[in-house]
Amino acid sequence: MNDELLIKLANEAKENAHAPYSKFRVGAALLTKSGKIYTGCNIENSSFGLSVCAERVAIFKAVSEGEKDFEKIVIVADTDETIRPCGACRQVMAEFGDFEVIMVSKKGEISRSSVRKLLPYRFNGDFLKI
Ligand code: THU
Repeated sequence: MNDELLIKLANEAKENAHAPYSKFRVGAALLTKSGKIYTGCNIENSSFGLSVCAERVAIFKAVSEGEKDFEKIVIVADTDETIRPCGACRQVMAEFGDFEVIMVSKKGEISRSSVRKLLPYRFNGDFLKI
């Protein structure tokens, strides 16, 4: 799958961001191993703690459609440096294994990493087996 298409779709999703409080718009495009694409944008709330990041919206859309095996996620924002996913989103990504994370800046620069690299020493379901 062409990264450029995912970047384009993430940018389109960013336009749907509901970010009246931070004015910081984020878009995401998640590619599943089955070849489907789920997009997301950040959705803020006047009760700030209820806001949800773009990455989690995309992941939750995919999981709710029965897709849990991911190839890569693209994240875009109008940042000078490539956007970085927050800690909560890293933990949610890690729930679904290791996959590529592509972070994009305002100018279209790209940083590539992986869920494992972005969240080493993570909590996972194995700890619940007590
Ligand atoms: N946000 C995301 O959607 N993804 C990120 O990777 C970082 C932060 C959102 C949450 C909030 O709506 C706004 O950006 C400012 O933190």
